[in-house]
Amino acid sequence: MSTTPTPAASVLLESLRGIVGPTHVLVGDDLVAPYVTDWTRRYSGPCVAVVRPASTLEVSSVLAACSAAGQPVLVQGGNTGLVGGSVPASSGKAPVILSTRRLSSIGAVDQLTGQVTAGAGALLSAVQDAASAAGWVYGVDLAARDSATIGGTVATNAGGVNVIAYGMTRAQVVGIEAVLADGTVILHLNGLLKDNTGFDFGSLLCGSEGTLGVITAVRLRLHHPHARTSLAMVGCATYGDALALMSASARRSLLIAAEMVDAIGIELMDSVLGIPSPLASSWPVVAFIEVADGGDASGLPLNDSHDAVVAFDAGEQARLWQFRERQTEVYGAKGICHKLDVSVPLSRMEEVLADLGSLLRDAPTVEFYGLFGHIADGNIHVEFIGPAADDVEVDHQVLEVISRYSGSISAEHGVGRMKVDSLHLTRSAAEIAAMKAIKDALDPAGLLNQGILFPTA
Ligand code: FAD
Ligand code: MLT
Ligand code: ZN
Repeated sequence: MSTTPTPAASVLLESLRGIVGPTHVLVGDDLVAPYVTDWTRRYSGPCVAVVRPASTLEVSSVLAACSAAGQPVLVQGGNTGLVGGSVPASSGKAPVILSTRRLSSIGAVDQLTGQVTAGAGALLSAVQDAASAAGWVYGVDLAARDSATIGGTVATNAGGVNVIAYGMTRAQVVGIEAVLADGTVILHLNGLLKDNTGFDFGSLLCGSEGTLGVITAVRLRLHHPHARTSLAMVGCATYGDALALMSASARRSLLIAAEMVDAIGIELMDSVLGIPSPLASSWPVVAFIEVADGGDASGLPLNDSHDAVVAFDAGEQARLWQFRERQTEVYGAKGICHKLDVSVPLSRMEEVLADLGSLLRDAPTVEFYGLFGHIADGNIHVEFIGPAADDVEVDHQVLEVISRYSGSISAEHGVGRMKVDSLHLTRSAAEIAAMKAIKDALDPAGLLNQGILFPTA
């Protein structure tokens, strides 16, 4: 919902209308509804207004006006974030939501360098399509591609299914334009691969979750596409078998993706969406292994004893990928899902998963749970339903298990509001203090994305 404006807020709203035009300052519950509740439905809070600037200059003017008025600002892209960082807090001073969706331009692909510049509000799928139309591939892919923005994926350093082949979003960023809390524009979009002239703002802003500045445009590295890929969906008796299959595939071919879904997730595809597994039997773990340039299945280490389906053409591959890609959707359909996104050393994965299994099996509030994720990266998504949206006891217990194995409490979704109190489990006090010092230097009044990554002052 939007708050009733105070006299000071009314003056600010008038000045914001002057900057972006009256139709791009949204107030009123109906208009702001899509911006104030997150994808998981666990996080929601009021805002003063939603402001939709269309250029870097407008972003700068909006931030300068908010800064002068001491008004907190929350940055939002596609609102597909899964850690509560894309929406206002339920308490505290309500922010102005700055939506980047109108910054959606995509430049021409530079064929010499294999780079493209995209506005922060461009959809991930639009960047993928622009790259593909020019004969290239963008290295980041995730199921929210039709709603997530490039700015959001940079702000969260998004991962996805192709990290093993191309790296996280940070590895794609070769230049950035951003606006600081006071309206100052930082512009470094030249895309030079060799440029050792001090701090790399692209790297710094990647994963900063909107706490340091509003990203307005990004220069991205593209890759050469592979002529053909083969995708196998394979039943495995244990997580160890899935890891062994992945490792054997990587020794024979270039690994494009290695993912997994447990038996619960495969069963949900049938019970929620009516899409039964194409495998002959039900398995504790199903692995999805994609390798490049295998015109036949020779790139995959499969034999007759495997219960597997292999797909070569794009349509067949999409049919198999949906069993992995639609996991977020099928868990979401079952209720308010607690989603923890963690990574652990591959060598400890089986032990960690066994520990998590006993924790979740024994937790009295948990009705059911399951696992899926990116096995190639040691990144497991732990899903459970039962505890109330604001009951975080089991969430904390899961993160403590991960910490005991020297894992990360956030592999790819970020810290957001969800994990602020748990950051110390992965980062030392010295690291957190250094991060906070950077935050304080760039946003001294602490107006940007309050309560995200750092506790509210
Ligand atoms: P938002 O949700 O709007 O914002 C996310 C955070 O970034 C917020 O803190 C926000 O303030 C900040 N932010 C947004 N734009 C900017 C900007 N221009 N400047 C500064 N800060 C900004 N994530 C993965 O990593 N891997 C996956 O495989 C994956 N799959 C997903 C599948 C589904 C179905 C869904 C719903 C989500 C998935 N996600 C995944 C999570 C989500 O899509 C990513 O975190 C994505 O990067 C968020 O982009 P967004 O534009 O929606 O950002
Ligand atoms: C995924 O890998 O599917 C995403 O990170 C989304 C999720 O965890 O639900
Ligand atoms: Zn993921």
